[in-house]
Amino acid sequence: MTFERIDLEVPAGEDLRAAALVGLARTPRALPCRFFYDEVGSRLFEAICATEAYYPTRCEREILTARAAELAERFAGHALIELGSGSAEKTALLIAAWVGPVHYLPIDIDGSALERSAERLLDGGTHLRITGIAGEYATGLARAVEVVAGPKLVLFLGGNVGNFSREGAADFLAGVAEHLNDDDGLLLGVDLRKERSLLERAYADPAGVTAAFNRNLLVRLAAEADVRVEPQSFDHVAEYGEADGVVRMYLCANRRTSIRIGEQSFRFEAGERIHTEDSTKYGRGELGALAAGAGLRLVEHWTDPAGLYSLNLLQR
Ligand SMILES: C[S@@+](CC[C@H](N)C(=O)[O-])C[C@H]1O[C@@H](n2cnc3c(N)ncnc32)[C@H](O)[C@@H]1O
Repeated sequence: MTFERIDLEVPAGEDLRAAALVGLARTPRALPCRFFYDEVGSRLFEAICATEAYYPTRCEREILTARAAELAERFAGHALIELGSGSAEKTALLIAAWVGPVHYLPIDIDGSALERSAERLLDGGTHLRITGIAGEYATGLARAVEVVAGPKLVLFLGGNVGNFSREGAADFLAGVAEHLNDDDGLLLGVDLRKERSLLERAYADPAGVTAAFNRNLLVRLAAEADVRVEPQSFDHVAEYGEADGVVRMYLCANRRTSIRIGEQSFRFEAGERIHTEDSTKYGRGELGALAAGAGLRLVEHWTDPAGLYSLNLLQR
């Protein structure tokens, strides 16, 4: 059982402060969702996953529990590479089912999540080698495939693919597909279109955990990027656009306020918003096209019994 960590460099101009300067100057104002995740943000996301309102984690766990043995048999001897691994709590189900020694390569922008998940997984007592890669999805994957000589199953769970637009998702997955050989697989968690009330509750839980998660972007700006901002002057908003199947999250000013970065001041009237995240939902019929758009085949499509969420196996 071993754990090694590789830290990839953040490219110049892609840090939180630079992203805020660009994103707050744009119309509409926006901050990239990858900056949700520092240690506090990752812990808040784990707390969201534990809420009753946030069905995707529960559903994905159900599907993985039902399919772990089948996947382990199909991909015996494959390394597991995971994009945006977070707590890896569901991945532990696959690792436990894997036959023989496992090489697991989690990739996450938050290095602290890699450390915490490795500690928990290594406690499990399996024949496990972990190579954690702290960095972006694409550069992390490029590094992971250099480390892994043999076949691999790439995991992209939690519905993270929904953070891309539909076209962006196909482009992103095409980039993943370039690293796949014929024996490899991509296990993709995709959240499905459903009624508005369930979705809006999942993204604005009654206890306010998602609100704290969203506001953590501003807390990080103040703490790490020398930005003057009052996080409490912004409220959490989540809205489902039924026509395009996208849940959008915003931070909405609840009074007149400003965000000051160095010499630049960004003023907000009450009601003005910063767009912080999209979560694109798919119809069952759209998944074949998503795979094809990335140059892949949809080999399996599994859902939880209630049909809220899907796990999909894509191959060349
Ligand atoms: C919504 S959470 C999902 C975590 C886990 N996959 C799950 O299903 O519970 C997204 C995870 O991806 C990571 N992440 C977000 N954007 C990323 C990016 N651009 N590159 C690498 N990791 C990213 C976050 O740090 C976080 O751990």
